[in-house]
Amino acid sequence: MYYDPDKNDHGLPHNPFKSCVVPRPIGWISTISAGGIHNLAPYSQFQNLTFDPPYVMFAANQNTLGLRKDSVVNAEETGEFVYNMATYDLREAVNRSAAEVPPNVDEFELAGVTRAPSVRVKPGRVAESPVQFECRYYQTIRLPGNGPMGTVDVVIGRVVLVHIKDDVIRPDGCLDILKIRPLARLGYYDYTTVDSLFELVIPGENEELLRGLEGAAGGSPAPNPS
Ligand SMILES: Cc1cc2nc3c(=O)[nH]c(=O)nc-3n(C[C@H](O)[C@H](O)[C@H](O)COP(=O)(O)O)c2cc1C
Repeated sequence: MYYDPDKNDHGLPHNPFKSCVVPRPIGWISTISAGGIHNLAPYSQFQNLTFDPPYVMFAANQNTLGLRKDSVVNAEETGEFVYNMATYDLREAVNRSAAEVPPNVDEFELAGVTRAPSVRVKPGRVAESPVQFECRYYQTIRLPGNGPMGTVDVVIGRVVLVHIKDDVIRPDGCLDILKIRPLARLGYYDYTTVDSLFELVIPGENEELLRGLEGAAGGSPAPNPS
């Protein structure tokens, strides 16, 4: 089958679109308002864009009132945001922080998580999360959409500091993803976690290509494929 997303003539009981790009990592984004209120919200329209230097993005639709979401307003006004990795253990808190509440609500309190201070930016970090990126706001790209919520603000930030909890670094120096169990979005109300992994190395002797795949910055050596 095929369908036209402008017509949504798929004939299915539920729109399949969000099931067609899965799993999506969840950027659990913390910001602070100009008035000093701490904000936290999950974004599955989230990705890293590049690695040297690293940039990330989250894409925020308008809220149900047709207004820019608080994360966007805060990132634009203060020039900073933090990415916190969402995990299976934190799933309920992630979900609580998605409630559409007024901008004067402290969403760390709402989610029931601990706010740790950041080093280079003012927004706090979720202390329970194993990985956080401190980011400086770079740019917003606004894509026009249908209906009050369709318009989306793609917020891009440069990662200026990376935090990784010591206890998720394996003895071989790689992140222990199976211990972290990152949380990811599927379609509908479905989620998944990473609970298996395997390795594939691009064939050939192109060291630079392999370094790009690994995300090595500044000429650091690629690992020995095992
Ligand atoms: C797992 C999950 C992923 C979400 N991803 C997005 C997203 O990518 N874009 C978006 O606009 N809203 C997304 N939402 C909804 C926002 O989290 C929600 O609108 C939140 O209230 C925004 O908060 P803010 O106004 O404080 O930024 C998601 C919700 C959940 C539970």
